[in-house]
Amino acid sequence: MKILVLGGDGYLGWPTCMSLSNEGYEVFTVDNYSKRKIELEMGFEPIQKILPLQQRARLWNKISGKKIKVFIGDLCNHKFTYNFLKKIQPERVSYAKEILEVRAGWDSIEEFVLED
Ligand SMILES: NC(=O)c1ccc[n+]([C@@H]2O[C@H](COP(=O)([O-])OP(=O)(O)OC[C@H]3O[C@@H](n4cnc5c(N)ncnc54)[C@H](O)[C@@H]3O)[C@@H](O)[C@H]2O)c1
Repeated sequence: MKILVLGGDGYLGWPTCMSLSNEGYEVFTVDNYSKRKIELEMGFEPIQKILPLQQRARLWNKISGKKIKVFIGDLCNHKFTYNFLKKIQPERVSYAKEILEVRAGWDSIEEFVLED
């Protein structure tokens, strides 16, 4: 089953990606690196260096033999979001600790609704 994890570069997003991949889901994830940009602007950095999402995904794919596919882009950019959702057509979407069912068909993207 295809599952999309939002914010895959984040504190919760990345472990969620690995956990779901390990469970056998076909995992896709998206992030715009905005947290890293904010950290740079504010002059903060994580206590422990964290590899960029694409590098972590490459390592995971190599070590686990499974595949996490990464998209870099802004979910607030409707064209980007429309295009990549259309391309991957996930059956589920995961963000933070919630896993939400995609209730609508992908033929009609306007009907795409996520509910708690
Ligand atoms: N960390 C916790 O213990 C915890 C607990 C409860 C709830 N939450 C909530 O869960 C969510 C995720 O938490 P986290 O700690 O993983 O945060 P995080 O900041 O580490 O991760 C969020 C990720 O989303 C990305 N992102 C933000 N806006 C984006 C956009 N427009 N397009 C694409 N990517 C975007 C950021 O770059 C970042 O990598 C937050 O809303 C947080 O409030 C976190």
